[in-house]
Parts: sequence; structure tokens; C-alpha cells
Amino acid sequence: MTSLSGKRIIVTGGSSGIGRACAERFGSEGARVAVNYYSPGEAGDAAAVVEAITKAGGSGMAVQGDVSSESDVIALVGSVVKAWGGVDVLLNNAGIEKQIPTLEMSLEDWHRVIETNLTGTFLCTREAGKVMQEQKAGVIINMSSVHEFIPWPGFAHYTSSKGGMKLFMGTVARELAPSGIRVVNVAPGAIVTPINTFVLDDPEAKHAVESEIPLGRMGRPEEIAATVAFLASDEASYITGTTVVVDGGMSLYPKFV
Ligand code: NAI
Repeated sequence: MTSLSGKRIIVTGGSSGIGRACAERFGSEGARVAVNYYSPGEAGDAAAVVEAITKAGGSGMAVQGDVSSESDVIALVGSVVKAWGGVDVLLNNAGIEKQIPTLEMSLEDWHRVIETNLTGTFLCTREAGKVMQEQKAGVIINMSSVHEFIPWPGFAHYTSSKGGMKLFMGTVARELAPSGIRVVNVAPGAIVTPINTFVLDDPEAKHAVESEIPLGRMGRPEEIAATVAFLASDEASYITGTTVVVDGGMSLYPKFV
């Protein structure tokens, strides 16, 4: 029996990539996992994640919703409270990126990324946080990025959203600590998921990324999930208000002389 057994967990953007790996890892530890997915087209993937969770010994449900929509987020958290009576862990994982030089970026491009990554994190934190405050316990984990602190040309909206998540996390950690709620960011480096298709499909680009990583390879979603499971558990009971970087050493800037 692990410390996550029976925990009531929400994973946003849980039907693919890192979110999926985290949801399945939680399931393997016997947790109850609400797998949020964005579009009806992802319903099948979300159902497959719930099936994997159930096979692994946990239980789960798939909940459609856009994290940038206030009404969807209220409904998401409400459905979990209705089903399971509370929320123990929130994983703000949903995120998008789109490469475009800043001077060519439309306001719509800017808004879409900020609203998904940063506003979505705020809305889910606010709604799940209210439930956790009543419980006087809870853990909120945000999937930020090494681009929380590494500038990235072509991704000003993305870096702004992830940088914003850093001070959001610290601020909320201070606000919620008296209620027994921990708030932590996880900052992955380059991980093999669909968000990186543009790199994975181009051997030269993939090699260029790998040469920036001291461990010499991109990470696996399961390696992020292992860190997230630890942070969600009572093993991490004294960790709040900080970012845990999981990047194979990428942020050591190996090419800097
Ligand atoms: P992914 O594209 O496989 O997963 C992102 C998920 O978010 C998808 O399931 C997508 O449907 C969902 N999503 C998008 N907009 C949504 C919305 N409005 N509402 C609800 N769900 C929405 O990509 P990946 O890599 O698994 O990304 C997960 C998180 O990890 C993101 O926040 C990303 O920024 C972050 N990250 C990923 C890295 C990587 O190298 N793969 C590196 C650093 C951070």
C-alpha cells in the first residue's frame, strides 16, 4: 500500500504525453484519478487511460473540459467532488506551445497559450484549492518547464506562461500553506511526447536537442511521472513553494564555455 492509495487526483490534459504517464502512475499506486481531456476527439484516448488505470489497480473517470473555461473547470472539480467527496491532488498539466517569432505573433496566438497554460492553472488551482482548504489538506503540482527560467526564441507566449507559473506557484504556496496545502512546480526538460513532434520527426533537430542534454537523450514521460508521484505523496511532506527540475542536466547549459 503506497501513500497514494485511494487519493482523489485530477490530472488536466491527461489523455496524452506526460499527463497520461502521470495518470497511469497514480493508477498503479491505487489512486482514484479524474482524467481531464480537452476535445471530444480525445475521448477514446482518455477512456484508454482510465482502462489502464483500472487494470493497474486504481480507479478513474474521464472528464472532458477546457481548462481555460471557467465553467468547464467548475464542472470538472464539481464532478470529482460529487463522485469522490473531495480532491487530494491536482496536477495542472494541460499545456500547449506554438513556435512563432514575437513580432509576427497574433494576439490570438498569445491569448491561446497564456489562457491554456497560465489561466488554466489559475482556474483549476482556485476551484480545487477551495475544496482542499475545506479539507485542510491537499497538493497542487503544476507542470511548468525549464522555460520557466530559460528564454526560448519563437516561444515568447510559452515562456511567459511558464515564467508566470513560477511566481503563481510561489505566491499560492504562501497563501495556502497555513491550510496544509503544498504547491510545487515540476520543470521538465525535453521529453518524448506529442508536443515535441516537430523535433522528434526531424533527426537533425532531435540531435541538436540531445546535444544540449548532458545525459545525452530526451526524457521519458514515465521519468516525469515518477517525480510527480513522489511530490504528490507524503514522502514530500516538507516540499512546497519550489520548482523541481527534471531535465537530464539541460539547465547546466553544457555548451556554455
Ligand atoms: P501533449 O501535447 O502530449 O499533452 C498536452 C495535453 O494538454 C494534451 O492532452 C492536450 O489535449 C491538453 N490540452 C491542451 N489544451 C487544453 C485545454 N485548453 N484544456 C484541457 N486540456 C488541454 O504534451 P506534453 O508534452 O505531455 O505536455 C504536458 C505538459 O508538459 C505541458 O504543460 C507542457 O508545456 C509541459 N512540458 C512538456 C515538455 C516536453 O518536452 N514534452 C517539456 C516541458 C514542459
